[in-house]
Amino acid sequence: MISCRVCGNQLEKFMSFGKMPIANRFLLPKQFDSEYFFELAPAFCKSCFTFQIIEQPSPEKMFHNNYAFYSSTSRYMQLHFKEFAYEVINSILMGRDEPFVVEIGSNDGIMLRHFKDKGCRHLGIEPSENVADVARKNGVNSLSKFFDVDLAEQIIEEYGQADVILSANAMCHISDINSVARGISLLLKPKGVLIFEDPYLGDMISKVSYDQIYDEHVFIFSATSVSRIFQQYGLELINAIPQITHGGSMRYILAPIGSHLVSPNVKKIIDKEIEQGLPLPDTYEKFKENCEKSRDTLLELLNRLKDRGKRVVGYGATSKSTTVTNYCKIGPEHIEFISDTTPIKQGRFTPGMHIPVRPYEEFTKNFPEYALLFAWNHAQEIFEKEVKFKYAKGKWISYVPNVDIIE
Ligand code: SAH
Ligand code: TMP
Ligand code: ZN
Repeated sequence: MISCRVCGNQLEKFMSFGKMPIANRFLLPKQFDSEYFFELAPAFCKSCFTFQIIEQPSPEKMFHNNYAFYSSTSRYMQLHFKEFAYEVINSILMGRDEPFVVEIGSNDGIMLRHFKDKGCRHLGIEPSENVADVARKNGVNSLSKFFDVDLAEQIIEEYGQADVILSANAMCHISDINSVARGISLLLKPKGVLIFEDPYLGDMISKVSYDQIYDEHVFIFSATSVSRIFQQYGLELINAIPQITHGGSMRYILAPIGSHLVSPNVKKIIDKEIEQGLPLPDTYEKFKENCEKSRDTLLELLNRLKDRGKRVVGYGATSKSTTVTNYCKIGPEHIEFISDTTPIKQGRFTPGMHIPVRPYEEFTKNFPEYALLFAWNHAQEIFEKEVKFKYAKGKWISYVPNVDIIE
């Protein structure tokens, strides 16, 4: 039996997505035979209400010198992180003497570059060396290590405590969350603030966006679980602000207990979570049924299009698409290729189902009849960009919140 990473309570899986590969490991054919698989099965802790996966591959298997996700590929996310940075610069950092900002999971420097531009003392913690190198080239101080309590102590020794600790789409990646939370509580100044955002459990359940669940996302947080996790280390949730990014996220703002006023939003959001049934096991039984329904409908649609000889191409070789393709068993017989703008994914094959990944230009050169929108979380940006596909009578297939053809 596996125990909860937060509270030690026994975990039971409520469903399984089956054998899964590493979501961001795009392969060459010679690597097909040695591909690593694990069982992707989520669980919900009935004691501390933390949603987590039972088994997670080791961090070194996922985050290394060849990590395929570069944050800055999305222009919308560039804008989002610029706004995020300026909100911090213009509020919390105002009036502080030589403030120090730390980011956990800083990737290619998409957020910290704005602090650098302002001459602000900063440090990015980014274990994936290839993406951290991009940040370093742009003048963003980056340390290629895994954040945990030991690293927090080293940072304090070398740089002192932090005024602000930031993180986006990274906190939910780190299995030893107790070590991270303890590290943050040490690293933060008594009047310091922790702000992080991650995909939100409430959105995942309501939209049946089960593709948020993959190896890297060991947790899908809610305000209820975040508040419990950090309370153990003397930090309290002082605000929670919903975000539209990544298909529905939540920004959590925390500070040492009693150091800041608590916004009424916190109670509102926690009450809403209770109303939605997030703390109830039945919610996850229903989620499981919804996932199965979504899988069967999507596969039926793709099989129908295949039988009718239609050309279908995937749009965006996202990490999330690894869960969808492997769970639904969508392969090269359904999808000719997946178009992606990330150079290190191109010319390779998707994890598990081995669908070819090709440069974006191959999509525009010869539009297919249907494009399966794997990057559904960037739908707005993509629809705005792809007007020519629409004029060519191309149709989008989406599967969140429902399997649907968008004409
Ligand atoms: N913040 C960026 C990157 C998200 S991807 C964005 O929102 O776009 C998650 C990042 O977390 C990866 O770059 C990964 O290398 C990093 N990461 C994983 N484990 C980590 C750890 N223990 N400490 C710091 N960063 C970590
Ligand atoms: P993400 O959903 O994890 O942010 O990954 C997005 C992936 O989709 C990334 O590999 C880049 C790719 N992508 C495109 O190919 N075209 C686009 O217009 C966008 C926004 C993303
Ligand atoms: Zn627990």
